[in-house]
Amino acid sequence: MSIVTQRTDYTFKYNQTQSRHGWLRLTPAYSVKLVQEIVNHLEPNRLHPRVILDPFSGTATTGLAAAQNDFTARLYDINPFLIWLGNAKCRHYTEDEISTVARQIPQIIQAYKQYLPQSSWQPAIHNIHRWWAPATLNILTAIRQAIVDTGGEPGKYPATDLLWIAFCRLVIETSAAAFNHVSLSFHDETTSFATQTIDLFFSEVAHHILTEAGETIYGEATIEYADSRYPLPHLSFRKYTDVITSPPYPNRVSYIRELRPYMYWTKFLREAREAGELDWTAIGGTWGIATSRLKTWQPELDTLPDTVYQTCAAIAQSDNKNAFLMSRYVHKYFHDMHQHFASLRSSLASGANLHYIVGNSTFYGIRVNTEQLLGDSLSQLGYSDIACRVVRKRNSKKELYEFCLSAKWNE
Ligand SMILES: C[S@@+](CC[C@H](N)C(=O)[O-])C[C@H]1O[C@@H](n2cnc3c(N)ncnc32)[C@H](O)[C@@H]1O
Repeated sequence: MSIVTQRTDYTFKYNQTQSRHGWLRLTPAYSVKLVQEIVNHLEPNRLHPRVILDPFSGTATTGLAAAQNDFTARLYDINPFLIWLGNAKCRHYTEDEISTVARQIPQIIQAYKQYLPQSSWQPAIHNIHRWWAPATLNILTAIRQAIVDTGGEPGKYPATDLLWIAFCRLVIETSAAAFNHVSLSFHDETTSFATQTIDLFFSEVAHHILTEAGETIYGEATIEYADSRYPLPHLSFRKYTDVITSPPYPNRVSYIRELRPYMYWTKFLREAREAGELDWTAIGGTWGIATSRLKTWQPELDTLPDTVYQTCAAIAQSDNKNAFLMSRYVHKYFHDMHQHFASLRSSLASGANLHYIVGNSTFYGIRVNTEQLLGDSLSQLGYSDIACRVVRKRNSKKELYEFCLSAKWNE
């Protein structure tokens, strides 16, 4: 393991230079390069076309990479913002749609000025002035209103979603948020941007996005809502031939935490309580109420691999006041993933290949070997050819790695 390096080309950072993949960052996104390496080995089959599944879509890296390589992909997620974003990234846009939106950019830049003297709708983000200076916030709310006037709220008109993505970029670039590794922190001060600076940024980003939206995509990918712990929608005659995905890791990272600013501004999240509810549905969810509910959580299954119970017992016995809670957190994570692997079987074509990018973690010095424990679940559930390779070393702690866990399903 010591020669395994951090490989930033295998992280979300690589995606920032990869056309549509770079539209909005999500730190837990995996690298499109990883997906491409897997997709490049897939033989197109004209008689029985492949259908690639990603049950944990996130920013739709798998779907976009598959569609760019002329494959068909179906993706699922529980986060409505990510479903919206994923579909906007994978969609086909006509020349007409793109030129219409291009004409709207200067109109919006002119129109929003009328809203500056008055107050427009602003999101109920806790402590909002820690994110944006009052003057910047005023401009953002005015631009938001001008986009709504032009093309409605996100999701109303597909092509207008491109403007909303540019707006999300504006929101994050003008904020005091700093992304350090997978966490989010704040710079000490917010900045009051001049309207000219914001106009220039919005115009440049929006035009850039439009250019990339004009690139032809030959395949097709769609993202829908589904909780992947339960059976996924599929056509009986067209089951999934390949699964390429990265599920959450048992590391207490909350996707909603990082996505909060986008989700509030696009109205996919209206109040903090909703974030906790969403994270309770998320595997490995850890936001607010999701953690407190762990105390009373009852497993639906008591047939997980012995190695899972052994790991949880070791964490529970460690010397920390949260040891019991964290052992339940890890228990629920592997429970939910086991449920996912069990339900997945009915959606898979015989011979389907699975590729799961996963990371290990530690709790109070106890190593959680995610790749091995998930491999044990797969084996117990009848999957075959289970194998694991190290993809990269993660930079947070020296013993943390990312792995590609693969398996096969034969009916
Ligand atoms: C590690 S991220 C996936 C990142 C993705 N590969 C990308 O490149 O952006 C895991 C995703 O799983 C989703 N998720 C968590 N629990 C889920 C569940 N029960 N069903 C479906 N999706 C879920 C989260 O919302 C998150 O978007």
